[in-house]
Parts: sequence; structure tokens; C-alpha cells
Amino acid sequence: MSGIVIDGQRESIERELIPAERIQTRVRELGMQISSDYAGDNAPLIIVGILRGAVVFMADLIRAIDRPTLTIDFIAVSSYGASTKSSGVVRIFKDLNESVEGANVILVEDIIDSGLTLAYLLDLISRRNPASVRICSFLMKDRPRENPLPRVDYIGFDIPDEFVIGYGLDYAGRYRNLPYLGVLSLTAAE
Ligand code: IMP
Ligand code: MG
Repeated sequence: MSGIVIDGQRESIERELIPAERIQTRVRELGMQISSDYAGDNAPLIIVGILRGAVVFMADLIRAIDRPTLTIDFIAVSSYGASTKSSGVVRIFKDLNESVEGANVILVEDIIDSGLTLAYLLDLISRRNPASVRICSFLMKDRPRENPLPRVDYIGFDIPDEFVIGYGLDYAGRYRNLPYLGVLSLTAAE
């Protein structure tokens, strides 16, 4: 039996969905695209990571962007409620350190599931008079949504509607350190 048992539940990685090498290739492509999209624009470019899931993706992404004046900032949010379902109620634990006024902002997400976290943050940041706001998400889940999604300018991968872990994404705080993206399986432990 593989995996680990926590609180009577066996957690194991059912399969690898996206290998590490493919992730690295795609992130370099996104970095090149962002570099060229902002090349002629002299406003400051601030990459805003949504903690904690976006940290791994963002660390690789910023090193793939060629721009000497790039800066980074972070915002920490959490949806209320536990487990593998998004509740839509967003709470801010840590706000941005810097002002975004007059800057081009790229909001970096790990995954867009319901899209509610993103819609909330896009609205919040847009009210602070940035020159522009774009969204870059490592993953986009293919699923029906009740609310329309905001425009997502950069997407790493479209994935099926399954619960995934690794490359920053967690289950109960674990698995963020995996270099690849996997599908988690939960079963009752004997
Ligand atoms: P949304 O507000 O429903 O789009 O949910 C966004 C947040 O839920 C993400 O930033 C993740 O932290 C979390 N999330 C959604 N789907 C998954 C998943 O498959 N694995 C791990 N976390 C997920
Ligand atoms: Mg999470």
C-alpha cells in the first residue's frame, strides 16, 4: 500500500498529471510571452502572488520574465470551510505591502476552480487605480461555473475537474513541495 495514513484516511498519489519537465517548459513560455507583452510599457510591473498556492509557480515564473524593473508582492487569502470544495467566501489574511497605483499588475494564481477567489481579488485590486490588471493562473479547471469567469490572460494548463496536488497546490497543507502535478486519491485506511 502506498501513500500515507492521516486520521484514518489513506492519501496517495493516484497518478502524475503533468511531469516536472513539462511544467518547466510551459512556465518558460509564459515568461517569454509576458516579457514581450510588456516590453513597450514603462509603467512599473508588479507580480502579485496569491499565497500560499502560487508561491512555487511564481518563483519559477518571475525568473522566466526578462525585465530589470520587475517587483513582487503577495496577498494571502483563504476560502472559508475545509476540504476539497471552494466555498466562495474569501478572507484576507495579509494585504499587499506596496501600492499598485499606476502600475501594471499581474495577479498570479495556482488554480482557477470556481473562480470566486479571483473575481474577489480582481475587484479589490482594480479599485486601487493600477494602470492595468491581468491574471496569470498556473492551472484552469475544466468545469461548469455558475458565475462567469473574469478574463484570464495567461494560463499554464487546462486540466480536468479533479483534485490535484503538487507544484504549490496542497491537500490539508501537504504536497506543495512536489515538483510535478498529481491527482490525489483518498481512501479509508484499514
Ligand atoms: P476558487 O476560488 O474556487 O477558484 O478556488 C481557488 C483556490 O482553491 C485555489 O487557489 C486553491 O488554493 C484551491 N483549489 C481549488 N482546486 C484545487 C485543487 O484541485 N487542488 C488544490 N487546491 C485547489
Ligand atoms: Mg489552497
